[in-house]
This record gives sequence, structure tokens and C-alpha cells, in this order.
Amino acid sequence: MKIAITGKGGVGKTTLTSLLAYTYVDQDYGVLAIDADPSPCLGAALGFPEVLLQELIPISRMDELIYERTGAQPGTVGGFFKLNPRVDDLPDRFSVLHNGIRLLELGAVELGGAGCICPESAILRALTTHILLRRDEVVLMDMYAGVEHLGRATADAVDAMLIVVEPTARSIATADQIKALAKDLKLAHLYIVGSKVRDEEDAKFIEANSPDLPVIGHLDDDPRVRQADREGVAVYHLSPELAGSARSIVDALG
Ligand SMILES: Nc1ncnc2c1ncn2[C@@H]1O[C@H](COP(=O)(O)OP(=O)(O)O)[C@@H](O)[C@H]1O
Ligand SMILES: [Mg+2]
Repeated sequence: MKIAITGKGGVGKTTLTSLLAYTYVDQDYGVLAIDADPSPCLGAALGFPEVLLQELIPISRMDELIYERTGAQPGTVGGFFKLNPRVDDLPDRFSVLHNGIRLLELGAVELGGAGCICPESAILRALTTHILLRRDEVVLMDMYAGVEHLGRATADAVDAMLIVVEPTARSIATADQIKALAKDLKLAHLYIVGSKVRDEEDAKFIEANSPDLPVIGHLDDDPRVRQADREGVAVYHLSPELAGSARSIVDALG
């Protein structure tokens, strides 16, 4: 399974990604978790030890490596560089492994405008493509609000793109935008996951207002998400209810 998780900032993408990661681990799958947020925090949500996370350097910050692989200095726009740099060794070399989950951080790319092509984005695009097409673990990509790093070449490799929404009009508006971008890329298998659902009314709001896509499950609003954050542990291990919701999403994905 290769799953991309998207949605407006703050809706609960990272929380959902962490729950899915442990669900697959409990089913004996190897998991490769990709933190594609410019300000990474998936490692903390997964309860990785701080010392391990300090070892982790986002790929976009590896100037030497980017230069070596693309032939151009990061930060340059235009000019000549390899659009298909070698990246197959990067996931194992620059990730950290804990509890059966391999974590890789992509980091931020300063985009120089729409469709910008710079050495950093070339590396990240090539790496994402490689991971989606060649890795045999369950891949979970905790994405930023959009679908950056995904291209047409990878559209078929994404088994499911989950658009996370909370019961707010704004998160649903973002979901509409993401759906349109995903359609442009010809990404199929789009699903809505409700998040921070407090009651029946919240669940109904999401059902009634989300883009016309299947709602594949929802996560209740649960104080143990914050508790886990404060204790530096994964919420999967604090909330059997959220773990159960994640399991039913995984079951529904097949
Ligand atoms: N199911 C939930 N119940 C309660 N709080 C949640 C839940 N999911 C996320 N949160 C809270 O919302 C905030 C954003 O969550 P996060 O997963 O980091 O979102 P995103 O990755 O979409 O930005 C965090 O403070 C987190 O504690
Ligand atoms: Mg996040």
C-alpha cells in the first residue's frame, strides 16, 4: 500500500499518519513513513526518541548531496542540472528506524514560483517517485496541504489519497482544492477521513459538505492526542478508540 495523507494545516494529518503506521506495524508490515511537511513533526507523533530524531536531517537540507546528485547548488533556479538524479540509496541512508517504522524527512523547498524547477525539488520529486514505484514497504506520505512532490508518473502508484477534514467549512474548502489538484494529476482512489469529530452533528457536517468522495472513516476528537504529544509517545498506544478507528480505515482500504 502506498498512501498519501493530505488536508489543510492542523486538521490532523500527522496524527492520522502515526495511527496508520502503527496499525500496519501491528499487522506485521514494514512501514516507510515520509514526513513531507516543511516543518516536520511526524517523528514526534510516532513517539520516536528525541536522540534518534536529532540524527534525522531533512533531504532538502543536504546541500552537498544535492550538489553531488544534480550537479547544481541548491538555491539556484534555472541553469542545468540532472532532472533524474540517483536517489535509490537515500531512503535507507537518511532515515531512522524505530518500532518497525522507517522515517524519512523531505524538508522544505523554497519554491521560486509555480512550476519551479530547482535542484532541491528535482531531488524530492525523484525520491518520491522512487519510493512510490520501487519500495516494497507500506508507504505513508504525510503531505503538506497540497499534492506537491507527486507527479503524473506517480499517480498510478498511489493506492489511496486520504484527504483529512475537520468539521469546519475552511478545511472542507481546502479539501475541494486538493481534490481538483489530484484530478489534474489523474490521481484516483481519493477518500475523505473526518478528524476531531465530537458528536453526531460534526460527523453529519462532514458527510454533508465534503467533496463528492467516499468518507472512509473518522477519528474522534480525543484529549489523548494532546496527552500523547506532551508525553512524547504515540497516541496509538494511549487511545484504543483511535487505534480502532485507524484499523477500520486500513480494513476499508483493503
Ligand atoms: N483526533 C484528534 N483529537 C484531538 N486533537 C487532535 C486530533 N487530531 C489532531 N489533533 C490536534 O490538532 C493539532 C494538529 O494535529 P496534526 O495531526 O499535527 O495536524 P496536521 O498534521 O494536519 O497539521 C494538534 O495540536 C493535535 O494535538
Ligand atoms: Mg502535520
